[in-house]
Amino acid sequence: MQQRAFQLQNGVLLPAIGFGTYKATDGNGKQAISDALETGYRYLDTASFYGNEGEIGEAVKESGIPREELFLASKVWKTEMGYEETKAAFAKTRERLQTDYLDLYLIHWPKKAPEDENWKVCLKETWLAMEELYEEGRIRAIGVSNFLPHHLEVILEDARIKPMVNQLELHVGYLQMAAVNYCREHDILVQAWSPLGRRRVLEEPVVLSFAEKYQVTPAQFLLGFLHQEGFSVIPKASARERMISNQQIFGFTLSEEDKYFLECLPQMGWSGEHPDL
Ligand SMILES: NC(=O)c1ccc[n+]([C@@H]2O[C@H](COP(=O)([O-])OP(=O)(O)OC[C@H]3O[C@@H](n4cnc5c(N)ncnc54)[C@H](OP(=O)(O)O)[C@@H]3O)[C@@H](O)[C@H]2O)c1
Repeated sequence: MQQRAFQLQNGVLLPAIGFGTYKATDGNGKQAISDALETGYRYLDTASFYGNEGEIGEAVKESGIPREELFLASKVWKTEMGYEETKAAFAKTRERLQTDYLDLYLIHWPKKAPEDENWKVCLKETWLAMEELYEEGRIRAIGVSNFLPHHLEVILEDARIKPMVNQLELHVGYLQMAAVNYCREHDILVQAWSPLGRRRVLEEPVVLSFAEKYQVTPAQFLLGFLHQEGFSVIPKASARERMISNQQIFGFTLSEEDKYFLECLPQMGWSGEHPDL
């Protein structure tokens, strides 16, 4: 169903839409992952923190979809940061997902804790482990998540391999343009987590009126807008109908005027999560 992709700085193609799996297996276990694969998703975004890599590995195996058609992404959690720790965490993730390699591996947050005074050293060690796993061919692309420019600069100071992706909370009402512009200058693809603002922006009057104007659902409008801004999106949904409609976002084009308007809205729907606070 979805063929569009973004090309990363190393040439790897990252599907424009992935399936977000945070809390996706609560309740019905791996069924949601099987449904996502059946409804056309080939990119699954998980993290060791989500505690569902095992169920994802099972669902992927049962699907029979060839590994090379899938794009599997996971993340190293705060408590797993450090050189040896990252390598050990990656090995466990790979085992749980039942795969020889990952398509994308991200550092989930830049700091173990906001008050961690040693965060720069820890981050550099974590990145070194990521680089080595990449060079060993265990990961096709490496990147970060929830990194602001001052976090990225710590890595870029002595990185042999630059981060290829930064996954940020991004949705109408929270576009983090300072971080986005920094990533664009450094050829880092920005991905949107909580692209629907975890439902917090879905019913905002401004979103409803734009959805009506472009004759799409509010969710399609939010996702289509992000896609047209150049971000990959990883929405999560429980019902198959939503999984399907969330992939049908390529049939409308926002005017420049509407894009500027949306880019300049006051803040709405922020999760409250911040890497430094
Ligand atoms: N890197 C990070 O720190 C980080 C943080 C948070 C999330 N993430 C990733 O980003 C993914 C997506 O973010 P998210 O799960 O927080 O939020 P989201 O995708 O913005 O929103 C998911 C919520 O929207 C609802 N929904 C989905 N499609 C809908 C539709 N068409 N109409 C109405 N409601 C709809 C879902 O309900 P139902 O489930 O009931 O369908 C769910 O409650 C996560 O799953 C995870 O993979 C990453």
